[in-house]
Amino acid sequence: ATSRPLRIAVIGTNYLGANTAAGMAEFGFDVVGVEIDEHRLKLLNDGKAPLYEPGLDPLLKKHVDSGRLRFTKDYTEIGDWADVHFICVGTPSSEGSDAADLTQVNSVVSMLAPLLTKPTLVVGRSTVPVGTSKVVEARFHAEAPAGTSIEIAWQPEFLREAHGVDDTLHPDRLVFGVQSAEAETRLREVFATPISEGTPVVVCNLPTAELVKGGANAFLATKISFINALAEMADATGADVTQLADALGYDKRIGRGMLNAGPGYGGGCLPKDLRAFMHRAGELGVEEVITLLREVDDINRRRRAGLVDLTHEVLGGVWIGKNVTVLGAAFKAGTDDVRDSPALDVAGRISLHGATVTVYDPEAMENARKVRPTLRYASTAAEACVGAHAILHLTEWPEFRELDPAALRGAVETPVVIDARLLLDAAKWRAAGWTYRAPGKP
Ligand code: UGA
Repeated sequence: ATSRPLRIAVIGTNYLGANTAAGMAEFGFDVVGVEIDEHRLKLLNDGKAPLYEPGLDPLLKKHVDSGRLRFTKDYTEIGDWADVHFICVGTPSSEGSDAADLTQVNSVVSMLAPLLTKPTLVVGRSTVPVGTSKVVEARFHAEAPAGTSIEIAWQPEFLREAHGVDDTLHPDRLVFGVQSAEAETRLREVFATPISEGTPVVVCNLPTAELVKGGANAFLATKISFINALAEMADATGADVTQLADALGYDKRIGRGMLNAGPGYGGGCLPKDLRAFMHRAGELGVEEVITLLREVDDINRRRRAGLVDLTHEVLGGVWIGKNVTVLGAAFKAGTDDVRDSPALDVAGRISLHGATVTVYDPEAMENARKVRPTLRYASTAAEACVGAHAILHLTEWPEFRELDPAALRGAVETPVVIDARLLLDAAKWRAAGWTYRAPGKP
């Protein structure tokens, strides 16, 4: 045991890395984050996250100011300095394939391994296909100076965007994929704070730890597609899927989380992780997993297509000359992230059909413009609704629930609203003279 605080290196400072670095400083350790992009590096060293995440900037600022946290682009500053190295880089989809692209993970190994000359624990947090940690280990041993003892552990994270700080400081559980008692002891030291608060720890082997992450996201996606399939049953019978979800959710074995019906899951994680998981199952010859999850993915795709069809229906079967307002561009509320966003996907498809689409989002306008430059963008929700033949509520920002349907009534061409998130006050909209449609609700 050392008397000085543990020294933690966090490699990669995107969503996961920025939260991890700030969280480790909050736990009381000396932290150095590695970021190779100059612009992002400057932001981080000013205590600013290079992304929108509630609560993250203050935590970064606090620890950049306290001197416990700093960022560098120079791997030589972390090599033998750190007691533990966390790998937090992204694993996007490969070009033209569902397989995870491990380029960034591999380049971390190539940069770090030659600098390690004393025994080191390297902990992977990135979401990877099961089996990756063993490959990473082999590469470290091949690329590190002969005789250095490097141990690999895997410690998956389960952060949700918009709740990243809380999920980092107070995780539901900790999973330690380790190969030795020393690695477990070290990880218990790193996570002493949440462990002392009662966070359960699962200590397991490497493939188990890798599978937990993919398995968790596949299960969450399955829950969402399950409730979305029930939304179709509700539509066919006059049932209300929200009440159905509430009633199912009270069963402790089921739980209410991830049972909000809507436009389906999007974002930078669930869709790509599910496909990468299926891809890996295919490589391993586990057909059951592919068969099960392919339908989960298909249901999810059909949600978006269904919303486009419903829009066509409420527009009287005509696209040309119609104005459609899309409320929301982020893949969910609380973030400016538009990766695989159902809202932007639906907006883009409607626009391709020939309708004029105007989008408004409180945080994601800049990112939305980058990926969908041909859509129109308004500076307020009310402005986006002017002249609309149909309004689509696609991202669940609280401010959309505050819209006054009576006031909006005069601004639109046709008072039709499609509440894909099932969160607007149906009675209020109908009382103000609107046609209110919500898939899954009578
Ligand atoms: C997800 C997981 O929830 C995290 O545990 C995981 O760590 C993360 O992916 C990751 O792999 O990094 P996130 O992508 O931030 O987190 O978003 P979620 O809050 O899970 O939502 C995912 C999508 O499902 C969103 O499009 C959301 O609108 C949708 N959703 C969520 C529903 O349609 N219904 C629900 O009931 C819940």
